[in-house]
Amino acid sequence: MENIAPALLEWFYKNQRILPFRTDPSPYHVWLSEIMLQQTRVSAALPYYERFLAALPDIPALAACEEEKLHKLWEGLGYYSRVRNLQKAARIVCEQYGGDLPADYDALRSLPGIGDYTAGAVASIAFGIPVPAVDGNVLRVFARLYNDDADVMAPATKKAFTVRVLDQMPKATPGPYNEALMELGALVCIPGTPHCEECPLADLCRGYAAGRADQLPVKPAPKAKGKVPVTVALIESEQGLLLQRRPARGLLAGLWQPAAWEKALTRDELTAALAYLLLDIFIEETQQQAPALLLPTCVPCWTSPCPPQSTYLRTRFGSLAAGRAPPPPVLCPKGMSGPRRRIWQRSTPCRMRSGRM
Ligand code: ADE
Repeated sequence: MENIAPALLEWFYKNQRILPFRTDPSPYHVWLSEIMLQQTRVSAALPYYERFLAALPDIPALAACEEEKLHKLWEGLGYYSRVRNLQKAARIVCEQYGGDLPADYDALRSLPGIGDYTAGAVASIAFGIPVPAVDGNVLRVFARLYNDDADVMAPATKKAFTVRVLDQMPKATPGPYNEALMELGALVCIPGTPHCEECPLADLCRGYAAGRADQLPVKPAPKAKGKVPVTVALIESEQGLLLQRRPARGLLAGLWQPAAWEKALTRDELTAALAYLLLDIFIEETQQQAPALLLPTCVPCWTSPCPPQSTYLRTRFGSLAAGRAPPPPVLCPKGMSGPRRRIWQRSTPCRMRSGRM
């Protein structure tokens, strides 16, 4: 294969999008943009990028940011573990490198949330280190360029393509070369039907010559997504809505939600589950709206001992909507018993809705 770099770079310098992390490619800016771009398109990420940097202009500010504020800045991007790792890494950078990202591929790669791709992108774009940065765009470009039918999801293919990317890299301009490949994949060598007539590499492209660029890259059929039935209980009282904190790992890790169970519970099972949460539910009236939706009116109360306070709390809709930190938990009046407790039970009526989603 002839060297692709001259034609690719000439095209990139003329056609690249003007983007804030290109205009000012500080290591922090490149890092943040690459993490955001792992989960969304450039146009969708830009408002988040600007807002994030306005609030947290440097790595020490990110390291010191309060958790709720950090989540709020990321809200809408999803994958909250990414922003948590960003902060973990920022704290390490402050402790070990004085607040500046290290200009070293291995040191970058060892930080939380920084994999081969992100380490390669930051090292090459921000520091000019000649290392590859191979994402889905680059794999697609190379599968077509080499008319290669290998499964691009397989680690061995990624390894082999990474060797080709490095072989083609001009060692004086690794950053522009890596970004040019990403940009070509985003604008011209797009998934599905590529714009080969506009491509600076069309003359060199073996997939194009074979008339099968649109059939590449080869990927295994996506796995069917499983559906998880969920039963959710919206429990309101004068103290607010009952919230439960999700586990520290997995989907929506550490976020607050209404009390929920990852299975389709019957009414009896739900009552038992609430009792297990130490909520007594006195069902006064039941309205069967739909087979999967129960609308009991109930009177809940906490009975002693309280559920773990770190996992459950009550909060008000107003403070949720305003994105404020939930107030401290108002849980069971610990130690309350006898007539006082019965009065308390009766004075905390609520409506409870539960349904399967
Ligand atoms: N996708 C991920 N990173 C990118 C970058 N720096 N330029 C264009 N597209 C990208």
